[in-house]
This record gives sequence, structure tokens and C-alpha cells, in this order.
Amino acid sequence: MEDIIINTSLQADQRSSSESSPVIEIWGKQPLSGHISVSGAKNSALVVMAGSILCSQDCRIRNIPDLVDIGRMADVLTALGVKVSRHGDMLDVDASSISHSRAPYEIVSKLRASFFVIGPLLARLGVARVPLPGGCAIGARPVALHIRGLQALGAEVHMDHGIVHAYVPGTRNRLKGGKIYLDYPSVGATETLMMAATLAEGETIIENAAQEPEVLDLANFCRAMGARIRGAGTNTITIAGVPHLHSTDYGIIPDRIEAGTFMLAGAITKSPISLSPILPEHLTPVIAKLAEAGTRVEMEGHNRARIIPGERLLPIEIETRPHPGFPTDMQAQFMALTTLADGDSVITETVFENRLQHVAEFNRMGANIRLTGNSAVIRGVPYLSGAPVTGTDLRAAAALLVAGLAAEGKTTLHGLQHLDRGYENIEAKLAAVGAKLRRIPDPALASTDMANPAVIV
Ligand code: UD1
Repeated sequence: MEDIIINTSLQADQRSSSESSPVIEIWGKQPLSGHISVSGAKNSALVVMAGSILCSQDCRIRNIPDLVDIGRMADVLTALGVKVSRHGDMLDVDASSISHSRAPYEIVSKLRASFFVIGPLLARLGVARVPLPGGCAIGARPVALHIRGLQALGAEVHMDHGIVHAYVPGTRNRLKGGKIYLDYPSVGATETLMMAATLAEGETIIENAAQEPEVLDLANFCRAMGARIRGAGTNTITIAGVPHLHSTDYGIIPDRIEAGTFMLAGAITKSPISLSPILPEHLTPVIAKLAEAGTRVEMEGHNRARIIPGERLLPIEIETRPHPGFPTDMQAQFMALTTLADGDSVITETVFENRLQHVAEFNRMGANIRLTGNSAVIRGVPYLSGAPVTGTDLRAAAALLVAGLAAEGKTTLHGLQHLDRGYENIEAKLAAVGAKLRRIPDPALASTDMANPAVIV
């Protein structure tokens, strides 16, 4: 395949940035059958790309999904002087001659994960200037834990006109290992601090660390470059700093949230689809809650899962928690499923303070959901009706698409700028297993035929 140099426009970027705001039309109630391939994990890929800054030689990263967010992270790296080129799902990243310590506001403001370059930049150059990532649709998402942790590693940190300016004081240019206790097991803070500590002088211990699989994936990537990290994937991570990291060739884990979303697509349409590759140990709470809701997931071999739908959808209770608890990134998709359960379900969001905005959108489709504080009480209804709906964030958009697959008539999904951040070719993947849906560039061109679309892409 021809090499593509990434600058400001990845293919995926063009899909969702058009002024006419594309939509996806979904005609529900189609049974699905066949197999779906799961892409590389977005959240791993983003932080591993940031982590490549730590290395003074070139690195190859495999299994990178083609997503708007990946393009934005590539743009941040390019702006810092990193050479980034894509070959299919491989990314070659060369940070050997990294030249700038300032990440551009225009990109950081669009992609919270790009703030995570602060750790590796500081570790590598002794200085980093990164704009605050700002608010986002699902909550305030502060970065105090990142900053406090960097200070514990000896950095001075100042806020200047919205820019976080971090530097190592004195002439040694190298962070110093330290002991860090995180008040909350933040994924991003754990990743930022683990990356910063890999090149620090001496030992760092991060307590109450996040245990998400993506944290372990990042640790494995850093280890493949020669970092000395123990305990990643548990709540205590120990990092013995080394002076340099070396070149590596590393493959990202499969995306557990994308896989979980397709599992829900199978469950809600009662379709025995299969998925691979998946790592079932990353999906334990998702598989357990699906079983409670009446849908079994069976493994066929070590990385292929099959959905075994039950007769009925059963009501469930869910509370989102840091890993290994139930993932907040699967909350909205499970809400889609519970709208059709035989009884009342309760879903409580504890990770983000504003991540139930999709409730109003499900209710537009005929769901019966009442909000009390950070809990949603979902009274199952016999059917959903297709309606125009808007994805308020990435996972909400995916959840509405899943609901549309089970709804009667046509659902028109708006808000694809969110969906395209995190799902590679989602409509093609679903169409290949029998879903009737298509992306159209402008809602004004939407089909008026509610039951039988003329052309399905
Ligand atoms: C990551 C994931 C996101 C997922 C989330 C929780 C990436 C790119 N994104 O986001 O998909 O939903 O983990 O699994 O990997 N917090 C603070 N202070 C801080 C940092 C975080 O109070 O300094 C709070 C946040 O506001 C939030 C909670 O901690 O309420 C969890 O956030 P965090 O784990 O940091 O999530 P992200 O790393 O932003």
C-alpha cells in the first residue's frame, strides 16, 4: 500500500468535518448474521503515540485504527517535530529530532488525549507547554492529578494564559523518581505519570493507579522500548527510570469498547454474530452484564466470541466504576439494551458527572427513562420507534446507532463528528452483517421512505 504522510488531514477527518453535517440513516429490525472484525484500541493507540515521544529512535506501531482522533494526535506529534507516516494500519513514528515543546491549542482543544503528551515531552526535553484540554460534553475532566504527579517528580508547573507550562528546574533536565498517590485512579493521570517516570532519575511508585487494559498496553509498549515498569494492570505501578529508550515494533490490543458495542448490537437484535479479535479478560464486566440481561457470549478459540441471544431481554442494574469495574464507555450502549428489557433497570454513572445526556435521545425513540441524580431508571418498553436523534458524545452516538438497529422504521443519527472519533468504518462493518444503514452527506437528502430504503451502502 502507498505510504501516506500524515499532516492535517487523515481520510477519517474528511468524513465528519464537512459543513453539511452528515447523518446515518438506519432501518431497524434487520436480523444480523456473520462476523465483525474488531479494530485496534483507540485509547491505547492515542497514548502509545504520545509515548513514542519518549524514544530517541524510530518506532513502528501496528493495529492503529483509522479515526479522526488518531489523525489529530498525529497532527500534535507533527507539530512537535515528530515524523509520522502511515502505511495501512501501521504508523511509523520518529521522534529522534523532536524540536518543539509547545503543543498547538487548535488541536489539543479538540482532543483531550493530546494533553497526555505533557508527560513524555517533559521527560524527554525537560520542558513542556501544553494548553489545558478544556471542558467536554461528558464533564469538566480536570487535569489536577496529572499536574500534582508531575510536581511530585520534581517539575515546576505554572499556568499561563490557559497553557500548562511544566519544566525541570536547574540544569539537570531530568525528572526525579518519587512516590505518587492518586486521589482517584485516573486513566490519563496514570498514563501521563508512568510515561514521565520512565526517563526519570531513580524509582517512581504510583499508588491507586488506574488498572485499565490500555494502561497495561502502554506499559508493555514502554517496556518494549527498554523501560523498566512493574505492576501495570494493578493498582501499584513501579517504574525504575532509565536514561534512554530504544526503537521497537509494537502491536496495539483490540478495542474492548468497540467489541463491546458490537456485542450489544448482536444482543439487541437477538443475532448470533461473531467477533474477533477480542481479549475476553478485558470484557469481563461487559460479558457478565450481558449474561444477566439474557445474552450469553461464548468463546470460540482464544480470541473469537459468539453472541448467543436469549428469548427475552432481562432488566439489570449497572454502576460504572474504574477497571475492573463496569466501564463508563459501555454505559450508553447498555442503556440502549435495557430500553427493551422486560422490566425496570437502573444504570448509575459514577465516573463522569455529566454522562447521561443520551437519556433524552432514547426517550425520543419511545424509551421510558427517568433521571434521578446520576442514576437512570429505565422501564422497558415493547418496542422503540425510529426517530431523528443526536449523539451527544462518542459512546452516546454509538448507543443510539445500536438502538436504531432494533427500532421500528428509520432512525436518523446526527452528531457523527463524535462517532467518527472512535469507530472505524462502523457503518460498513454493520452493513456487512446485514444491518440496513447508510451515511448521507446532508440530512436534506435523507430518504422519505421509512420502511424500504432504495439504496443501502
Ligand atoms: C479515559 C478514556 C475515556 C474513559 C475514561 C474512564 C482515553 C483517551 N480516554 O479518559 O474513554 O471514559 O478514561 O475510563 O483513554 N479526574 C480528575 N482529575 C484529574 C483527572 C481525572 O478529577 O486530574 C476525574 C475526571 O474528571 C473523571 C474521572 O477522574 O471524572 C475519570 O477520568 P480519567 O480516568 O482521567 O479519564 P480520561 O483519562 O480522561
